[in-house]
Amino acid sequence: MIILKSTIELNNWFIENLNELVENVGFVPTMGALHMGHASLIEKASSECQIVVVSILVNPTQFNEKADLQSYPRNFDNDVIVAEKAGGTILFTPTPKDIYGGEPYAEPVDYGPITSAFEGLSRQGHFDGVVSVVDKLFISVKPNRAYFGSKDLQQVAVVERMSNERHPKIKIVSCDLIRDENGLALSSRNIRLSYAGIILAQNISKELQTIAERVKEGGDMIESVEIAKKKLKNLEGLELEYISGVNYKTFSISTENRGWSHIIVAARVEGVRLIDNIEL
Ligand code: PAJ
Repeated sequence: MIILKSTIELNNWFIENLNELVENVGFVPTMGALHMGHASLIEKASSECQIVVVSILVNPTQFNEKADLQSYPRNFDNDVIVAEKAGGTILFTPTPKDIYGGEPYAEPVDYGPITSAFEGLSRQGHFDGVVSVVDKLFISVKPNRAYFGSKDLQQVAVVERMSNERHPKIKIVSCDLIRDENGLALSSRNIRLSYAGIILAQNISKELQTIAERVKEGGDMIESVEIAKKKLKNLEGLELEYISGVNYKTFSISTENRGWSHIIVAARVEGVRLIDNIEL
């Protein structure tokens, strides 16, 4: 795997190494602290593309809390091992200034509920930052296919919308959510949880699983969500932000079940913000 630290290095590498035999450049954007969730995206990209660019950039414009940005885990040496083992060809590690062409700044975006509801509401400006950095990374990397995890379900919808408008030739590939053996959705932020925090956090996926099972057995979706909401709210040390049914294409807020495809949830444990979802 080759490590390229700037857009100039990336451009030069492409000029020297890309030819008509390369039909598919795959791209996996990340913020580092790579785990098996990230690895699964890189593996999928490497099974479908001749070149796989993995980027690492802790993007300041998508953090609505300064403390979260400062405490965001960084583990470059391990990232190199994970990315290489999963099949990455290039590890692209630009600085924010390089990618933004100056001081990082994100234009506001309004795609309706997909940018304003749930994650958009809880984390004001978050999707402005995501749209801005992914757009700029797409311009630098010029991939044919870009891989995103359905762990961040709303992010996939936002990126799809942005890409349809600004980069219609790039195929957005949505990949499965990867969990640990106890069901906890893998996240770079899990490192900040204590053992007790991890045990508490496991209730999130347990409740999602219970809802999905109830619904499968013919149970009422709204009622199932309400039961889970009560249970999570009663757990000491777990602060529930939202749990709701949504349609993954629209993310419109509705208390009625109008074509829900997923249940999404956000909660805090030990100050760590966790999100998860399950397909119905
Ligand atoms: P980051 O949180 O590092 O995640 C990078 C990619 O890995 C995202 O597409 C995310 O959905 C995926 N991912 C994370 N955990 C996963 C899991 N448990 N299972 C499957 N996929 C998982 O998401 C971002 O970075 C940033 O917002 C980014 C898109 C890089 C823009 O800055």
